[in-house]
Amino acid sequence: MGLYDQSIAVLGGRGMLGTDLCQTLRAAGCRVTALDLPEFDITAADQTDRALTGVAAVVNCAAYTNVDGAEAHRELAAAVNERAVGQLGQLAAARGVYVLHISTDFVFDGDLDRPYRETDAPRPISVYGASKLAGEQALQAAGGAYAIVRVQWTYGRAGQNFISKFLSRADTTDDLAMVADQVGAPTWTCDVSAALLELLEQRRKGLYHYAAAGYASRFEVAEAILAERGLRGKRLRPCRTADFPAAARRPLNSRFDCAAIDAVLARPRPHWRAALAQYLAGG
Ligand SMILES: NC(=O)c1ccc[n+]([C@@H]2O[C@H](COP(=O)([O-])OP(=O)(O)OC[C@H]3O[C@@H](n4cnc5c(N)ncnc54)[C@H](OP(=O)(O)O)[C@@H]3O)[C@@H](O)[C@H]2O)c1
Repeated sequence: MGLYDQSIAVLGGRGMLGTDLCQTLRAAGCRVTALDLPEFDITAADQTDRALTGVAAVVNCAAYTNVDGAEAHRELAAAVNERAVGQLGQLAAARGVYVLHISTDFVFDGDLDRPYRETDAPRPISVYGASKLAGEQALQAAGGAYAIVRVQWTYGRAGQNFISKFLSRADTTDDLAMVADQVGAPTWTCDVSAALLELLEQRRKGLYHYAAAGYASRFEVAEAILAERGLRGKRLRPCRTADFPAAARRPLNSRFDCAAIDAVLARPRPHWRAALAQYLAGG
């Protein structure tokens, strides 16, 4: 049976990534069930087991994603990002359902002076990052068929993201600041979704890093956003992450080495600058 004869459940299917993924899968002809709060809670075993009934694959985009909030809500982050993922893995293994799980660059401390490979040792520096790493490990221990795709600096149309937040700030002030010491690759959820579709088609197993091609600092991304929008009258100042104390620490180096996923994807990863232009143009 091919991918398109099968049902796929997308957990967190109304979140930022989940929304675009459901659209991509449906456009490719898949039968998709999008499940999300409030009618679906991944921490409830009976609800997760029901979600797995009659499906061949499940994609887990559900997560507690409030990075600063997790510092004060450790238990909730652990319940959603760790224990629920282990439970999902066990229930899916029992039913023979393939799991595609989404994780994050926040499993790393960001201290490495090169892009992170899948073989690099994780060392989270936030409660959120630790809970996501524990979720990866719980899924790996469950013994079923799975792939984990770590993504970073994602943006999409559903909900707020760092690009929409920056544009909102630009609406209200001409004097903008952006951190210049965080480097990664802004990555459009539409491009992530296209890659996830390929992995689903292949029933690919293992751990993969996915990001847009190329690297940039957050400051360079902000410059590109202003240029795309023709906002040349705005003053943009570089600043440092340390200038903006937050509850959670963030890795300064979020760069991914994507050689492993490049070797299995037919479609080349779009460059961050081209994808950003397409997103801002409403494409
Ligand atoms: N955004 C980024 O920059 C980024 C970077 C790296 C990795 N990721 C990963 O990408 C994946 C998708 O995240 P996203 O960016 O799409 O964030 P998102 O928009 O917050 O999506 C997460 C979804 O999960 C739902 N959810 C939360 N708790 C749940 C529960 N107990 N049961 C069922 N659903 C629940 C959320 O619902 P509510 O909105 O109602 O809470 C939301 O719809 C996550 O694994 C995240 O860790 C994101």
